[in-house]
Amino acid sequence: MDSSIQQIKDKLDIVDFIRQYAVVQPAGKNFRALCPFHKEKTPSFIISPDRQTWHCFGSCSEGGDIFQFLMKYENLEFYEALKILAEKAGIELKKISPMDHKQFGVLYDINNSAKDFFKKQLEKSKEAEQYLKSRGLKKEIIEEFEIGFSSQEFDHLTVYLISLGYDIKDIERAGLNFKNERGGYLDRFRGRIMFPIYSHLGKAVAFSGRILPQFDNGEMGKYVNSSETPIFSKSKILYGFHKSKNFIREEKSAVLVEGQMDFLMCWQDGLKNIAATSGTALTLDHLTSLKRQTNNLIFCFDNDEAGFKAIERGIDMAQAADFNAKVLVLKDYKDPGEAAEKSPGIMLKLAKEAGPAMEFYFQKYNIIKGKQKDIGELKDNLRLVLGKIKNLASPIEQAHWLKELSYKIGIKEEALIEEMNKISLPVGGFGIKKSAVNKELIIKKIIQPSSRRDLIIYKLVKLVVIKNNLADHLSGYFDYFPVDYLEIIKSLIEKRNLEDETLANLLHSISMQSSLEHIAATGEEFIEAEFKELLRQLKKEHLKEEKERLAFGIKEAEKIGDEEKVLIILKELHEISKILEE
Ligand code: UTP
Ligand code: MN
Repeated sequence: MDSSIQQIKDKLDIVDFIRQYAVVQPAGKNFRALCPFHKEKTPSFIISPDRQTWHCFGSCSEGGDIFQFLMKYENLEFYEALKILAEKAGIELKKISPMDHKQFGVLYDINNSAKDFFKKQLEKSKEAEQYLKSRGLKKEIIEEFEIGFSSQEFDHLTVYLISLGYDIKDIERAGLNFKNERGGYLDRFRGRIMFPIYSHLGKAVAFSGRILPQFDNGEMGKYVNSSETPIFSKSKILYGFHKSKNFIREEKSAVLVEGQMDFLMCWQDGLKNIAATSGTALTLDHLTSLKRQTNNLIFCFDNDEAGFKAIERGIDMAQAADFNAKVLVLKDYKDPGEAAEKSPGIMLKLAKEAGPAMEFYFQKYNIIKGKQKDIGELKDNLRLVLGKIKNLASPIEQAHWLKELSYKIGIKEEALIEEMNKISLPVGGFGIKKSAVNKELIIKKIIQPSSRRDLIIYKLVKLVVIKNNLADHLSGYFDYFPVDYLEIIKSLIEKRNLEDETLANLLHSISMQSSLEHIAATGEEFIEAEFKELLRQLKKEHLKEEKERLAFGIKEAEKIGDEEKVLIILKELHEISKILEE
């Protein structure tokens, strides 16, 4: 194994390789670039041709060799990166590691063979071709995205794949069939239009199949997807992204749609900076992939209640992850696919006209002067919108929208601010209250701390995981943790929900880190001292934050001339300062 990795490294130059992902400039005997993994203005990403390594001295402070670069950039497992680089270097991989090939490689191969099989089946099926035509999909698109068809037979694909020599167990592992009660194998996809789902590198890793209407007995979903496999995780992949990512980067924005058909119809109509979530809720993994290309998202989900809900959730998540969110309004079309089909050209136009997410909320909550039934309704709706404004990460944006709101509804900004300050947001912000996604965000914050407070929390959690008897001491300090972290911290302490995937990731990362740092082997006394010191620092960070909050409160109170309030806050501020000095 080792020697072939070395062979690959010898054949591929890391500088040339990274050039495909970033603009690389010489800097002495090294090279320099803007880090492809985080947003920055001055280059802190250094490549060393001598050692064939890279390192980001900016906020990621990570580094590695060509393998680690590709794995991180494309979100790949080591074996997948190995396969790709071996191909690039012209080295035969099958000879290298039959075990690994059996694990992963064969899954790519099976999906690829299945894709070709479905394509052939489409050519043979008049009714399937007719259906695609009736949906307005042109031949070029069908070819470009390798759309196919699965016949109604029970085990058509399985039999074909076995005839190619694949093991039935591997076919099952690839998510393409399943065992019935009598122990026989059934194809997962029957009587469906087949859309290959591609990895970000353009390999077919799974399928989504849409039932042909004439075969629909209402027993199965309209769409069925491959089951989750070692190479396919539905919540990580954006449909079409392997083709659209360069357009997204060029256009400096991404239009997000729900379905494969939406994607394809828009793509066919010339809207190419687009990606589809395939009917799953937007996840942090989706956002991470998108973030590398752009900061600007345009939401265009279906024009129905479920779609509106998904948009609202998406906006909240995106804004939490520091994206600029816009909403594309579909007028009377039921979804972007229909709009593109009925009115060619309209999606490009509507994407240009997409307005800021906050305007979408103004519309939704009827924020128009004189439009409200009575003061009660006005107040309720205003509070909802003020909550959204409060939920914005940036104070500048908040100020902007408060002004706008004041202008729209004819109520003084001061009153709006006062009302807004009274609103308490649900823990973790709107829509994402207790959702897994919120948890994911927080865990990412802990694992990759970017604030001093998060770093302290990370170290604390690490110590508690190693020495569980420390957990008891934590409970007295819950007040000093951010509220939305508490559920996670408590799960860890009480060892609840540890099978939960996001928590398991956290634990994994912690145990990896700890073994690197040999903490587990450190003396008891030292760990306890460190633990106490960290708790003290956590309290200090908490108080510092409180101070900032109060200082802001004073400014606000001064603005509206509420002297009594100023005095009360000053007193609190004084007390906190005293504790901090101690
Ligand atoms: P839609 O039901 O909005 O699909 O689901 P659509 O594009 O309008 O479907 P057509 O136009 O009737 O063909 C959006 C996406 O949600 C996923 C699919 O990925 C689909 O593209 N989905 C939908 C499922 O996974 N299962 C379902 O049963 C339905
Ligand atoms: Mn739809």
